Amino acid sequence: MDIIINFKAYKEGSGKRALELARIAEEISEKVDFYIAVAPNYLDISDIIKNTNIDVFAQHVDAVEYGSYTSRINAEMLKEKGVRGSLINHSERRLKLADIEYIVSKFRKLGLVSIVCTNNITTTASASALNPDYVAIEPPELIGTGISVSKAEPEVVENSVKAAKNINKNVKVLCGAGISDYEDIVTALDLGSDGVLVASGIVKAKDQRRALEELVGLR
Ligand code: G3P
Repeated sequence: MDIIINFKAYKEGSGKRALELARIAEEISEKVDFYIAVAPNYLDISDIIKNTNIDVFAQHVDAVEYGSYTSRINAEMLKEKGVRGSLINHSERRLKLADIEYIVSKFRKLGLVSIVCTNNITTTASASALNPDYVAIEPPELIGTGISVSKAEPEVVENSVKAAKNINKNVKVLCGAGISDYEDIVTALDLGSDGVLVASGIVKAKDQRRALEELVGLR
């Protein structure tokens, strides 16, 4: 079971608070069998890599080489920084199909882990054909609502898993949107997913440690 915590651009997951939350995630990951990784914003990546051992993902990466590209971050830069991989095509940062394909194959060459986000069963199947490490199905209308995709749209999760694995048996499937407690995780697993992408349920929680402990079933 894999859990990726996306800090987005939330104040509660930025600057000093990003490092604090990454430390909490690292501590909790040592107490459970789940794989837990964090996806902070670019500015906090170095700090977290320097001060923790948790795997760090970028929230986005651009489909460019080195060169004259203002405000772009490429795969090579992420690799050099020591990140484990990146979310790609998050619904809050969509990319063109050709760009997704470029990034996934570049990641494979560089040994970075690709997590391609999708919004429905059809796009999950298409993303799976690009041979990323993960696809992550997230119905955009449920993101940030606290209404869990695994409970509100179980058929979308189940059919996305089937569609993805039918095309590519090696791809891992995550689901995300509204995930906040252990029951959501158990339901996601029952539906065949290999893990979850979670943001507001942890980052925006009054007590982030408690929320993460609840999510992994430690409470
Ligand atoms: O990347 C994860 C995200 O989009 C889900 O957000 O706040 O519904 O957990 P949230």
